[in-house]
Amino acid sequence: MRLSVIGCGYLGAVHAAAMASIGHDVVGIDVDAEKVGSLSRGEAPFFEPQLQEILQAGLESGRLSFSTDMSSVRGAAVHFIGVGTPQQAGGYAADLRYVDGAVSELLPYLQPGDIVAGKSTVPVGTAARLAELVTPTGATLVWNPEFLREGWAVQDTIDPDRLVTGVPSGPEGAVAADVLRKVYHPAVAKGTPFIVTDYATAELVKVAANAFLATKISFINAMAEISETVGADVTQLADAIGHDPRIGRRFLGAGIGFGGGCLPKDIRAFAARAEELGRRESVNFLREVDAINLRRRERAVQLVVEGLGGAVYGKRIAVLGAAFKPHSDDVRDSPALDVAVRLHGLGAEVVVTDPEALHNARALHPQLTYFEDRDEALRGSDAVVVVTEWDQYRREMSPAEVSDLASGRVIVDGRNCLDPSAWRSAGWTYLGMGRP
Ligand code: UDX
Repeated sequence: MRLSVIGCGYLGAVHAAAMASIGHDVVGIDVDAEKVGSLSRGEAPFFEPQLQEILQAGLESGRLSFSTDMSSVRGAAVHFIGVGTPQQAGGYAADLRYVDGAVSELLPYLQPGDIVAGKSTVPVGTAARLAELVTPTGATLVWNPEFLREGWAVQDTIDPDRLVTGVPSGPEGAVAADVLRKVYHPAVAKGTPFIVTDYATAELVKVAANAFLATKISFINAMAEISETVGADVTQLADAIGHDPRIGRRFLGAGIGFGGGCLPKDIRAFAARAEELGRRESVNFLREVDAINLRRRERAVQLVVEGLGGAVYGKRIAVLGAAFKPHSDDVRDSPALDVAVRLHGLGAEVVVTDPEALHNARALHPQLTYFEDRDEALRGSDAVVVVTEWDQYRREMSPAEVSDLASGRVIVDGRNCLDPSAWRSAGWTYLGMGRP
């Protein structure tokens, strides 16, 4: 099938390349000429496992191209909208200007029978509003939320847990759902659940999923706060409750909490939308989820201060990690980088390292010192803080090695990803999050 993807950021670039990799003819559109240039040369504009490979294969096959010219969407049967919906400046609601802009620029090129498939995360009610613009062209609007995780984006796009499509009532909705089944043919063929529903449900599925995940993380971080007060170990608690299949162990990793381009802004946008709908009380708990999450960053800073005897001023602190999670170079709302910035603000000499995210981190916080080489970052440090659980720190870093490089013997494990006994027996003061 011929497809277009409007917006070539994280979501759109991956979607375009992944759709080409399953056999479609795809054109990706973006207003950013630099991004279109690098994608057209086969260079992924961000770090994402497998993306580079499928991007190059798509370009070589002749089935994948990128353009800044909206008229290149002509002839596509399905037009995916994958532009960003960031948090509004000065508010919690989502900024819909890119979604609205993409749809209005697309309108002149739509043909009767075309499908416009929104993938961006939007406040409930957006699809119904956009359908009023799309329907008069004879095209059909569907909402087809994306659940990809950074670091697993290619796999999640080609082989998702589930596919959700919100369609209008009437025969055109059923026809559109069938077209989307054809688009996602490999996943559909292997029996991936394909849920056809209305617009509002489809929009809500996405925000509800992210709200649930954020709540799960903040729940365990709240248990970490209690554990700290009573001397319990939150990691054992998570293991124990996680054995209950109704609860499950995944997303019960206590630490410095969630960040990134989705969870924080999505729960805020959800709360803002609920308030507009007069249902503030229904999601009031999300404000608490957000507050717990932000407190854990401060707690990590407090542990470093305590570990260093009450002050970090003038101390050299090696911060291992800048990305909001491993396998990503994304530093948007990164708790890791936030901890580094807070320590710097307290007068510490902060040295940050990360296998992938330094370029982005430096652009955002040029005041910090950055080292590509982990060992250079560790050399001469008074304290070590692990804030992103990359394998390089979690698995491939022994207390003996670090002892040879660091001056001090304090390690703060912001992700509860290290073995406390290994560090303690090597003479280190180990401080975890919600662990005695
Ligand atoms: C998330 C959703 O998982 C995905 O379905 C949606 O499409 C986009 O938002 P992503 O932002 O890539 O994906 O990150 P995710 O893997 O969900 O992690 C979010 C944050 O939570 C990270 O900062 C991570 O470190 C943190 N986290 C995750 C924890 O603190 N503890 C955990 O147990 C799990």
